[in-house]
Amino acid sequence: MTGAGISTAAGIPDFRSPGTGLYSQLEKYNLPHPQAIFELDYYKSNPQPFCTLAKELWPGNYSPTLSHHFLKLLHNKGLLMRSFTQNIDGLELVAGLPEEKLIAAHGSFHKSHCIECKQLHALEWMKEKIFAGEVPRCTKADCGALVKPDIVFFGEALPERFFEAMSDFHNADLLIVMGTSLKVQPFCLLTDKVGKTVPRLLINREKVGEGVMGMFGYGFDFVSENRYRDVAHLDDCDSGCVKLCELLGWKDELMELVNDDDESNPPAAFWTPGGSLY
Ligand code: OAD
Repeated sequence: MTGAGISTAAGIPDFRSPGTGLYSQLEKYNLPHPQAIFELDYYKSNPQPFCTLAKELWPGNYSPTLSHHFLKLLHNKGLLMRSFTQNIDGLELVAGLPEEKLIAAHGSFHKSHCIECKQLHALEWMKEKIFAGEVPRCTKADCGALVKPDIVFFGEALPERFFEAMSDFHNADLLIVMGTSLKVQPFCLLTDKVGKTVPRLLINREKVGEGVMGMFGYGFDFVSENRYRDVAHLDDCDSGCVKLCELLGWKDELMELVNDDDESNPPAAFWTPGGSLY
């Protein structure tokens, strides 16, 4: 399970880190509250702030971090059941993870739909609108409602694939959680879906997800006398992944993936209408 913290080393801000997180850098938009930028009702009343931000966040300017390569290494070794991410940057795919291994729980820029008639709009069309600074409006005759990338806004349902793949958690024998504040439901509740004896490793700058989470979930227990399976490695994700790989004797293989990426210096994440990333 990953979040924005695995991509900060690529230069993409996370959301909630004080000072550097996206939510503390939105003053210019005069929002009623920072999360309004990802709320459907607010988008309907004032689409411009999200459209301006979408241009900044549009995939294409960033390269995978060491943590993304670590996920690819797990996959190469046949050990990765699935990577559930809250991120919308698609950097796992740029690092070479096959699409079926990735659950983009909060959606992506890959497709856009009209928020009223649900008409699909092409990626290139949406990109053109966003980069021209225009508010995207449905092209279907007699509609003209707002179009929005399929990024999951607050209050919207998560993609079906998220729910379909949730049973993975029952079959996992290790859960790694990296770079997330575990503040957003239902994603954060997944930590509780693995079996009761399955070890759970958190690699994050701070402890997160402890105690009761919302109505249904019981979070990590790193400190109580009864703790038995949760481990918090408080560090940057990239350093944490290196440390873990050192312990596993995989560091050279990890660094090979990282160096290959540096050498080939691929154009950063770029969605194409066909569905692949280059
Ligand atoms: P947050 O910004 O809430 O949390 C990021 C976490 O990663 C924090 O605990 C940071 O301390 C930690 N962190 C940042 N950089 C790190 C690094 N290099 N190494 C280790 N830890 C690091 O981001 P998310 O949990 O991903 O949803 O946010 C969840 C959702 O909230 C997002 O998907 C987004 C947002 O609202 C939507 O837009 C729907």
